Amino acid sequence: MSIFFLQLNILVDTGSSNFAVAGAPNAELTTYFDSEKSSTYMPLGIEVSVKYTQGSWIGTLGTDIITMPKGINGTYTINIATISQSDNFFLKGIKWQGILGLAYDALAKILGGIEPSLYKGEIWYTPIQREWYYQVEILKLEVGGQNLNLDCKEYNSDKAIVDSGTTLLRLPEKVFSAVVEAIIQSSLIQEFPSGFWSGTQLACWVKTEKPWTFFPEISIYLRDENVSRSFRITILPQLYIQPVLEYGQNLACYRFGISSSNNALVIGATVMEGFYVIFDRAQKRVGFALSTCAAILLSKPGKKLKKLEIDGSPVSEIKGPFTTADVASTCVSTISLHEPLLWIVSYTLMSFCGLVLLVLVILLLLPPRCRHHYTDNDIVNDESSLVRHRWK
Ligand SMILES: *[C@@H]1O[C@H](CO)[C@@H](O)[C@H](O)[C@H]1NC(C)=O
Ligand SMILES: *[C@@H]1O[C@H](CO)[C@@H](O)[C@H](O)[C@H]1NC(C)=O
Repeated sequence: MSIFFLQLNILVDTGSSNFAVAGAPNAELTTYFDSEKSSTYMPLGIEVSVKYTQGSWIGTLGTDIITMPKGINGTYTINIATISQSDNFFLKGIKWQGILGLAYDALAKILGGIEPSLYKGEIWYTPIQREWYYQVEILKLEVGGQNLNLDCKEYNSDKAIVDSGTTLLRLPEKVFSAVVEAIIQSSLIQEFPSGFWSGTQLACWVKTEKPWTFFPEISIYLRDENVSRSFRITILPQLYIQPVLEYGQNLACYRFGISSSNNALVIGATVMEGFYVIFDRAQKRVGFALSTCAAILLSKPGKKLKKLEIDGSPVSEIKGPFTTADVASTCVSTISLHEPLLWIVSYTLMSFCGLVLLVLVILLLLPPRCRHHYTDNDIVNDESSLVRHRWK
């Protein structure tokens, strides 16, 4: 993507809806957008600050003209937030200088089209449940081919979304515990550092030994467009046991690419890297197909693999159709059911507060005779009356 004469790499994020670029020098970045150098930049004079689940930034809004080398044809005038200050946003080693949020807004309509060279096999589509995030319906989870057997509403509590801006696969707490339990059960490893699952510790193996053979694959079943069918996307351990650093001469250390969440199941980059994902808003659906570049993403730089493989093994699978006869007709908890209850609760609390306030006001306004006035003529306790008697 270019901003005038300047070329920037932009992270496409389906979980947010801003277009924001670095607008000031930053230690982690090689370049930034200097709005003063662009003759087409128009300041709007509005300050914006955005917080993500990780990181935040502050910037100012303006408009400018952009072109994108691939995907769309032409130049566009769009709103741009130039980031002047950020915290935990531009991380070490990133190769982008801006973020393009594709969560339902006007800009996203100009992006689109399917690129046949980037996927292979069939595209499977799942309907978008609600147009805010890319919310989908998850019917079932399997670890090593074993159904977790949770109530399917647990997988969608309180929503299941596809979000390219989230790094990990995030699971609701209950589902997370069940998945970790199932992985421990089916993995061939006896002991893990306790912090491995919570993401605070790495697990290391001798470099020559690849740990992936010890771990099970994980499958997510999604509702098909035909509601009586489902399809499943499967990630192999190569995607969720992620190499992060090398230690000394012989050790390679890995992190657990799944974390727990208290408000959503998020199909993040851990899963999306294995697939070609199509965000089809026009038809309110998200498509999944096998990606042809999954292996390239994960292989060492300079060593291009043409097939969907790491060290000769595939990292993802997609399969269907399956029947949905064994799952509930809907696994998405409907918000309309919760809303009246919440209203009742808030009205009750409000009435209670009102009542307390009323009592306080009444107490304040009560005639003064109820209060104690310590004057010479109005003696109220025994001790002072004793003193008075003595004076007599
Ligand atoms: C892009 O636009 C040009 C001129 O309007 C046109 O000739 C070309 O075919 C378009 N390319 C695509 C891929 O739509
Ligand atoms: C939906 O799937 C069911 C079960 O596979 C099939 O019998 C039915 O014909 C399908 N409906 C449509 C409209 O394709």
